[in-house]
Amino acid sequence: MKISVVTLFPELYKPFFSTSLINRAREKRIIDTHVYNLFSYAQPKERIDGPTFGHGAGMVIKPEIIEKVVMDIQGHHGSAFKIFFSPRGKKLDQRLLSKLYNRMQKQEKEHLMLLPARYEGMDARIETEYADEIISIGDYVLMGGDLPAMVFLEGLLRFVPAMVGKSESVEQDSFSGPFVDYPEYTAPVTWKGHEVPELLRSGNHKAIADWRQQEAARQTVLHHFDWLRGYPQYTPEQELLIQKNIPAHYVVLMHSEVLVAEDKVSTKVGTTSVTSLDIHDIARSCTTYGIKNYFIVTPLIDQQAIVKTLLGFWQEGPGISYNNYRHEALSHVILETNLENVIAQITQREGKAPVLIATAAKKGTHRGSITFFDQEKIWATGRPVLLVLGTGRGLTPELIERCDYRLAPIEGFSSFNHLSVRSAAAVLFDRWLGKNKKTE
Ligand SMILES: C[S@@+](CC[C@H](N)C(=O)[O-])C[C@H]1O[C@@H](n2cnc3c(N)ncnc32)[C@H](O)[C@@H]1O
Repeated sequence: MKISVVTLFPELYKPFFSTSLINRAREKRIIDTHVYNLFSYAQPKERIDGPTFGHGAGMVIKPEIIEKVVMDIQGHHGSAFKIFFSPRGKKLDQRLLSKLYNRMQKQEKEHLMLLPARYEGMDARIETEYADEIISIGDYVLMGGDLPAMVFLEGLLRFVPAMVGKSESVEQDSFSGPFVDYPEYTAPVTWKGHEVPELLRSGNHKAIADWRQQEAARQTVLHHFDWLRGYPQYTPEQELLIQKNIPAHYVVLMHSEVLVAEDKVSTKVGTTSVTSLDIHDIARSCTTYGIKNYFIVTPLIDQQAIVKTLLGFWQEGPGISYNNYRHEALSHVILETNLENVIAQITQREGKAPVLIATAAKKGTHRGSITFFDQEKIWATGRPVLLVLGTGRGLTPELIERCDYRLAPIEGFSSFNHLSVRSAAAVLFDRWLGKNKKTE
């Protein structure tokens, strides 16, 4: 593969191209690298950049100079697959690297041209005209595109056969599948009091392979859940490992310890009535997202009677044959008189008290404010999770305060914020636990 880089700082690439695997690949003629100094394409006293149109600080690289470079280099090395770098670009990850490598193969492009910018970047028309892809290496801004170009190359070149010694080490790389790589160890067996797990020294290949899969899944669930949930497909074994490594989740819908309307403007602490829609729909959502049980809390005898009748029909009565899916969803619903009993049941079953996460439609302060990106923080506790949902005008401030955490409200880009609890529950479960596949 021919690689040409167009840069304002060619000296940055000397150590990069003459070190380690990249140097070895050059020596073996697996890759052939060329670095071009953009300044050398300018006439004496000609500037390669100009001030940006409209008000704004900074200079922008001119289109004609890039045209000159591109035409010249392609004249020498043939038509190129051209990559530009910008924080505005597509975020680089292993999947994008693999897709770009395959695209190059498909287009039979043997020539890769990298065009890292400096200053405020390139005139936007250059990218429109030439870019096969614009890459960002993350949501931060560097002084220039040279480090992004090197990051991109280090990642892409791992796909080139013969570049890395063993192809299986590339196939098992983190992010090549849904999971990150498993932890690895070498001698000594004990170092600073930390031991290499005994199983890895047992010589039992099957047990070692299982341990590695489990560790890879555990670490991915805990530290890279957004990557995992975005992965396009899992094998049934991977799906089971993921399920096993997500901590047990429970939901409680409170009909006591909630605020109810006192008059048109004020609220008071009170109780609410149960609704069959909430029982049905939240049960179906819970089952969809693998939530173990859905507790309905009401201290009111008449309300309990309504729930018992409904559950009786679906859990043990004619509902089983009438609609088996409903039966399945509703078989996870449990009626309770208060929150303490719910906590006690979960603690008994899981051997650990649950972490309580309060939900509220309004913003509020809490010692444990969390967002929908904080699964890692909660799951690292190793405890089961109880999501606490309110009815009426929401959970009382006292109950929210008793919970360990308060989850950020669900909001859209509008000023209306009046979701029903069953709608909020569905959105919440999806944001917290759902798959969110990326096709790109
Ligand atoms: C100082 S930056 C330009 C920043 C520009 N004002 C912006 O916010 O997008 C100069 C050049 O560095 C490169 N660069 C900086 N950060 C980058 C990132 N996160 N990913 C890819 N390229 C980056 C790009 O080539 C960019 O045009």
